[in-house]
Amino acid sequence: MNTSMPTSLTSDARAILKQPKVTKQAVDSFHQIENPRHRHLIRTLVQKIHDYVQEVELTEEEWLYTINFLTKTGQMCHDQRQEFILLSDVLGISMLVDEINNQKDINQTPSTVFGPFFVDKMPIRNFADSIVVDGEQPETPLLVKGQIRNTKGEPITNAYIDVWQTADNGMYSGQDPNQKIDNLRGLFISDSEGNYAFKSSLPVSYQIPSDGTVGQLLNYAKRTFWRPAHIHFKIAAEGYQTLVTHLFTDNDEYLGSDAVFGVKEGLIVQPVLKSADEASEKHFGLKKDYYLIGYDFILTRS
Ligand SMILES: [Fe+2]
Repeated sequence: MNTSMPTSLTSDARAILKQPKVTKQAVDSFHQIENPRHRHLIRTLVQKIHDYVQEVELTEEEWLYTINFLTKTGQMCHDQRQEFILLSDVLGISMLVDEINNQKDINQTPSTVFGPFFVDKMPIRNFADSIVVDGEQPETPLLVKGQIRNTKGEPITNAYIDVWQTADNGMYSGQDPNQKIDNLRGLFISDSEGNYAFKSSLPVSYQIPSDGTVGQLLNYAKRTFWRPAHIHFKIAAEGYQTLVTHLFTDNDEYLGSDAVFGVKEGLIVQPVLKSADEASEKHFGLKKDYYLIGYDFILTRS
């Protein structure tokens, strides 16, 4: 008996004919979800996972391994550690979602990955405060300052600017039991002219955590754990799309090989060494030489 399909069928029709009965049953079983977007998301997800399983001819052993891997990934998560976000980051999914959803206006500041180390409800700090609240202030402090504006160039007042970065040991508070939770974190509010400023230390490149399932995966794939030095920002203002982004310092050896694919050209900045003067002391409390990063963030209307 000739079991081959008629050659006149389209490729879509062939795929449907080759589709196992259970795939159709599983996809169709979600047809009663009332929200059309949710129905589409779940049915497409089921279809694509079935396609994958079929394409790679997944063995039972491999399926069990996958279940165990995802179980362990969930077990790594707690209030200050999010292994699933890290997994999404190293798979490039976080940046893909970012590309689909953000940067619709060419004039806005580029966004990038949120990352797994954000801690909500950090203390509100005053203009030009230091976010180094644990241990010594850095020998040469870093001043980060600029303005929050919209795409028409108008200043945005009362924007909430969350910042977070690692300590010199490459670890975030929450990861490192020796740091207070609010160390190198803080929430700033832009002033009546949209200005913000804070003091910190120069960020360092660091390795993402290797003690969980993501580490296991990267080791197995012989991939790098390094991220180039950066400071995280989450900027929210009423009527505007929340901006999640980083500023990367230039001349970092990992700019071209970020483990989570987060680097964008428009986010690379050059810290400039400055001498303290009367104005730096008066406005920012800087009495000695410091590094300056000047960067204006441009938000788009929501
Ligand atoms: Fe980071």
